Amino acid sequence: MSNVSETAVNELMAKGLRNQWYMICPSNFVADKPVSLRRCGYRMVFWRDTTGIAHALEDRCPHRGVPLSCGIVMGDRIACGYHGVQVDTNGVAVCVPGAPGSKLEGSKSTKTFPLQERNGMIFAYVGDDLHKEPPELVLPEELSSPEFSSFPCYAEWAGDYRYVIDNVMDPMHGTFLHKQSHSMSFGDTKASFAIRETPTGFVFEKEGQRNVNFDWTEYAQTGALWLRLEIPYPKTGGPGGNFHIIGMYTPISETMCAVMHWRCRKVSGWQRDTWRFLYKNRLEARHWHVLEQDRVMLEQCDADANQHETLYAHDMGLVRLRRVLRNQAVAQLTALADAGRHVA
Ligand code: FES
Ligand SMILES: [Fe+2]
Repeated sequence: MSNVSETAVNELMAKGLRNQWYMICPSNFVADKPVSLRRCGYRMVFWRDTTGIAHALEDRCPHRGVPLSCGIVMGDRIACGYHGVQVDTNGVAVCVPGAPGSKLEGSKSTKTFPLQERNGMIFAYVGDDLHKEPPELVLPEELSSPEFSSFPCYAEWAGDYRYVIDNVMDPMHGTFLHKQSHSMSFGDTKASFAIRETPTGFVFEKEGQRNVNFDWTEYAQTGALWLRLEIPYPKTGGPGGNFHIIGMYTPISETMCAVMHWRCRKVSGWQRDTWRFLYKNRLEARHWHVLEQDRVMLEQCDADANQHETLYAHDMGLVRLRRVLRNQAVAQLTALADAGRHVA
């Protein structure tokens, strides 16, 4: 049994579980100048080397702690703007101009974050002391199969990322909050739900209702945590059948989060071109309008809104996911404590 404290679990949950990949930002946020972004309890600095490959380090100089992002990029290293210490992409202080030969020189003193660029986004691996090597990042078929075409839609919301996860695990809000929206005005407002296990997570779905409304949400962890849902489309929505959404949500701070939705359809050939045209000209504005309804609602919540709930059966999906993630947090903290490591 674990003896990790409730406070430690809550702190870890607020920063986001460790040992997985996180969606960080669109690829075009990062160029050759250093960019500082807070994610998952860290301040990170990102830049591209001369070959265009993106790198990330903790944004704190190992000498006196000023942000490395205030320094100068020198290809595969960054020189701190304060006293010139150079930290390379492995987190090693390779040059200490003010004190050559000092203990700092040659030491691996800065935390590194392995990166990948996929589907227009930068992903970073956030591991703890026991898991320095990242797992494989397997993205759902909507983002990895040529049969699908997708648009990345990134936003930052003024709220805790967990509220966004809860929102997506709650298909019933579609029938109410998005009632006025195209394609979400149908469906039973008193539906019953069930949970179906999958090899990578579970599906929370309405019993006896498919392809009417926002009828189910899938949660999966495949190196990263993602959620999937489909919204049926009327014929006027063009080819490709249901509209698929893949969501990923990353903590920025306790009051900010990065919100990512890929809007996808199963289309190829001329249908793909039609959908991409239609999306840009007709659908995108509507989709943002729907998402704004979620954002406004969640940003209005007080930080402790989820301490004052009276849940009912429609909330079974989010209750289950909260429990799954909490158990993972306890397991991560227990493993660190057992190994005498300090909590990441
Ligand atoms: S604080 Fe960075 S070199 Fe001194
Ligand atoms: Fe919504």
